[in-house]
Parts: sequence; structure tokens; C-alpha cells
Amino acid sequence: MQEITVTRTTHPKSKPDQSALGFGKYYTDHMLLMDYTAGIGWHEPRIVPFADLELHPAAVVLHYGTEIFEGLKAYRRPDGRVQLFRPMENVRRMNNSARRMALPTMDEELGLECLRKFVEVEQDWVPSAPGTSLYLRPFMIATGADLALHGIREARYVLIASPVASYFPDGLKPVKIMVEDEDVRAVRGGTGEAKCGGNYAASTRAGDRAEAKGYSQVLWLDGVERKYVEEVGSMNIMFKIAGRVVTPKLTGSILPGITRKSAIELLTSQGVPVDERLISVDELRQACEDGTLEEAWGIGTAAIISPVGALAFGDREYTIHGGEIGPFSQKLYDDLSGIQWGRKPDPFGWTFPVDQPAGAPDCQK
Ligand code: COI
Repeated sequence: MQEITVTRTTHPKSKPDQSALGFGKYYTDHMLLMDYTAGIGWHEPRIVPFADLELHPAAVVLHYGTEIFEGLKAYRRPDGRVQLFRPMENVRRMNNSARRMALPTMDEELGLECLRKFVEVEQDWVPSAPGTSLYLRPFMIATGADLALHGIREARYVLIASPVASYFPDGLKPVKIMVEDEDVRAVRGGTGEAKCGGNYAASTRAGDRAEAKGYSQVLWLDGVERKYVEEVGSMNIMFKIAGRVVTPKLTGSILPGITRKSAIELLTSQGVPVDERLISVDELRQACEDGTLEEAWGIGTAAIISPVGALAFGDREYTIHGGEIGPFSQKLYDDLSGIQWGRKPDPFGWTFPVDQPAGAPDCQK
């Protein structure tokens, strides 16, 4: 495997107050860069002082949006060690996104070692206050200067990190979500299941409209029939309807969330089946009407478990579980976050200590 070189900053920043981290406001001292050139492949992985990126004004990403990203977190365990949660899942999903966007894929072991080594260098930045973590944002951009549309010949992988608290300012306090019936996020065969910037850019208008009406985010419907529920702005979605846990199945236009997958595996192991199926907006509205929608929660890396306290269909708003977090979502949060932060045993082999030597076996799940 290629050696990742390290050039340490001579001007380390002071660490932010852990009680006021927010999400994505502060960045660590370093970043990891690696370049791709057609015919050569990925080369020069290097950890360098955090700085602005320099791009040619004709760089493909600036014109055609050829960009993909990932999100994962490094957690401070009670014993002080630092661990990642299923990082190989992120490496593999990034390769899947790269295939969809015609960007270069990366050797899985190299991708994993970039994450591990970077966190090892930045480990003092992993906060320890309850609910805080170091959010890692690997991304890849097409850097070649070329206004003609054809294959990607040059790309750059960048990894940055931000110490964070809850994604939503009120933590586990339930959020209000609005069903979006005008814009669509993705269609099958499009880029919906890739984690690419364009999906999120196309979502901004609806998100802004929702915020103006007092909602945190929108619940997307499928892009063809506008009939089936897909995901929320920054996370997947799950419901407990008449005693059963249901979540939209991965149809090709939904992000295959790693936290979603982990929750399904965790619940199944506890004897709680999760139905992955099409859920129509009519079924959801009916469940709100007749009171069988017991709980709803968003689920994702940044948001972890985010209870939904109200769901709006047009002008009609329904309160879920009295607008409070329900016992099921609370237990799922406790169990999942317990494993992520090392407070609970990890029977699945999902956690990955950063002081593990390169090449040590990661969970392959
Ligand atoms: C994540 O949960 O890691 C994401 O990438 C969602 C993003 C909108 C913060």
C-alpha cells in the first residue's frame, strides 16, 4: 500500500468549547489529499496543514458538479480510546458513488487506511463531551481543466474533519417534517443512491421552503408517481406503524444509509423484524389519521436517531407520540449510540479502533 506522508502544521489552532460545537462550524488542523491521474491511478496520499483548495477555473467539478462525498464519525470511548464505526462501509459506498458518477474508484484498503491514519493524526480533536464526535467528510472532485464533456482524467480525494455535537440544534428533541409535493430529489436510474453533492443541491429549495414554514426538513416522495415515501433531507426514515417497524426499501433512488442498515441489523438481532417495503404517502397519512403511527424517526450518520414529532401533509399537521420522543426510538438511540461511543459491547464487530495497525481485519459486514 502507498505510504501516507504527514506534514504537521506549525500553527495548531486552539480547540473549540465542547459545549458549543454545533455541526460543521470548526475544522481540525490538517486535511488529507490524494490525486488521481488517468494512466497512473491514485498517488501521493498526504496529510498536510488545513488550507483552502486551489482549483483551475475550468475544473470539471465547478461546471458539471462531478463530486461525491461520505460522512462518518470518530468517537471517544469511555476509556479514552478513539474508534470509527463501520468505516469500510463508507469506503465501499464511496466506490459505488464513484462508479455512478464516472469518478475513479479506490483500493478499499487504501481508502480505509486514509480514514484511520487521518484520525490517528487528529485524535486530540475527537471531543469527549456526551453526544459529541469528530465528523469525517471525505469527498472527491473532478479537477481536470476541461469544458468538454467526457471521461474524468484527473480527480482529487480530500478528507477533512469537524468536531461536532448534534446535527439538529435541539439534540434528541423531535423535529417537524413536511411532506414535499412539488420538487423531487431523485428518480430511479438517476443519482439518488449515490452520495453526490448534486442530490443535496437539488434539495435546497424545498428545504428552504420547509424552514420558512417552521419545519426542519422535507420528506421526499418518489420522483415518478410522487406516491411513495423515500427519505428526509439529511437522513433515512423509519416508522413504527401498528406495532411494526417499517422503512422505505432501497429502490435505487434512496441513499443506502449505513446507520439505517445498522439499525435494521441491530433490531433484527433483538427479534424486532423491520419491513423494508414501499410505503405510500396515503398509508402514512391514514396511519396519522387513525393513530396507528406510533413513532417516526430519521436515521443517519450526522443525525444518528432524530425523532419526528410532527408530520405535515399540505396544511394538515399531525403530531406523533405527543410531539415527544417515543420509547422505541429512545431505546434504538441508546443501543446504537452505545455501540458507537463504546458504552455498550459491540457483538457485531462494527467498531474499528484507530490505533489498530494497517491491514488488521475490519468488520466486513
Ligand atoms: C451524513 O449524515 O453524514 C450526511 O452526509 C448528511 C449531511 C446532509 C450532513
